[in-house]
Amino acid sequence: MRIIIGISGGIAAYKIPFLIRLLKKSGAEVKCILTPSAVDFISPIVVSALSNEPVGIDFWNKETGEWNNHVAYGEWADLLVIAPATANTIAKMATGACDNLLLATYLSMRNKTLVVPAMDLDMYKHPSFLRNIEQLTKDGVTILPASEGELASGLFGQGRMEEPEIILTKIQEILKTKTPLLGKTVLITAGPTHEAIDPVRFIGNSSSGKMGFALAETAIALGAKVVLISGPTNCTLTHDALEIIHVTTADEMLAEVKAKWEACSMGIFSAAVADYKPATVSDTKIKKVDDVLHIELVKNPDIVSWASNNKKENQLTIGFALETNNEKENALEKLKKKNMNIIILNSLNEKGAGFEKDTNKITIFDSKGDTKIFDLKHKKSVAIDIFDYIIEYSK
Ligand code: PMT
Repeated sequence: MRIIIGISGGIAAYKIPFLIRLLKKSGAEVKCILTPSAVDFISPIVVSALSNEPVGIDFWNKETGEWNNHVAYGEWADLLVIAPATANTIAKMATGACDNLLLATYLSMRNKTLVVPAMDLDMYKHPSFLRNIEQLTKDGVTILPASEGELASGLFGQGRMEEPEIILTKIQEILKTKTPLLGKTVLITAGPTHEAIDPVRFIGNSSSGKMGFALAETAIALGAKVVLISGPTNCTLTHDALEIIHVTTADEMLAEVKAKWEACSMGIFSAAVADYKPATVSDTKIKKVDDVLHIELVKNPDIVSWASNNKKENQLTIGFALETNNEKENALEKLKKKNMNIIILNSLNEKGAGFEKDTNKITIFDSKGDTKIFDLKHKKSVAIDIFDYIIEYSK
């Protein structure tokens, strides 16, 4: 891979050294071009040392007297990655402006361009920015949308530049250099299930679906087709390689898993399925009459156990264990009892792990007796670790 990283002037430029290292580790050749304002945010010396290449900033290199040839840059690169891409650089790209070396290189690119925006919340929502992004998409540029989180301004919302690991996966997806799941279909369950008590109440939990959707996104990036069966969540994802099926209850989730399982190479069961459901559902809203209300609960079917007990030799089942105590023992017991190949433990005792959070901290155990502990990471990075582990396990 020959990659040009075009760095424009934003705080998120501090993440670029990590991206350069990841790209170099994956065997890529990397050259960097900085806009004049990017030098206020990142030192060209750092970028040059890590990429092991001279850094382009001006059209004219005053020290050597050489011309920085944007045409040569555009011919050399397999991909131009503009990260962080500021609102200003994006606006100029959308209009064809050409007042710096990076923009001239963009206009000279023979291959694809990936834009990774980073800016503040209100800028990210501004109609002019959205118009420019739409224009770039029409022009064939790939956009890796900003993620949600705390912004440099202290505000919270969408605008954070994606993490270097996610950018790397996107680059690999675009250049199709790492598609180990090509030809495979991955089934993923996500989110909670809601088990109705009456027309207005249910038993449920606070799973957001973030972990399951991150797994789906990563599986697609690695070349898989994905069947995502999700309980009620606010998460969204669209892709040609994705079939998304929305369900509410455990019974509905199981019915969809049964319908899809045969065609899948593996199932990753990240849904937080309610273990019990009300024995009967009241047709009308239950009135507040007595001081104590008894609701009889009956066991829900165990979805991952069904898939495990109906798997062929070439199918894998991977489950999660969400624990609050005796974490390792409980996870290993579930691995065995539910006849799974791999179990991913996340404990509510770990800060930043589990329900709703953007991050997770996992330990993976497998049926061969191996274990791996991971650091606290963004759920999108956790999803990459999980697939790396599954791919190694399957070898
Ligand atoms: O959605 P997020 O907010 O991002 O949170 C992610 C998560 C914490 C929900 C996720 O990482 C996770 O841990 N999911 C599994 C939660 C859970 O139900 O764990 P469990 O230990 O109760 O279940 C063990 C395994 O059996 C799980 O793979 C579960 O999907 C599966 N199961 C459980 C009950 C049931 N009736 N059917 C099942 O298939």
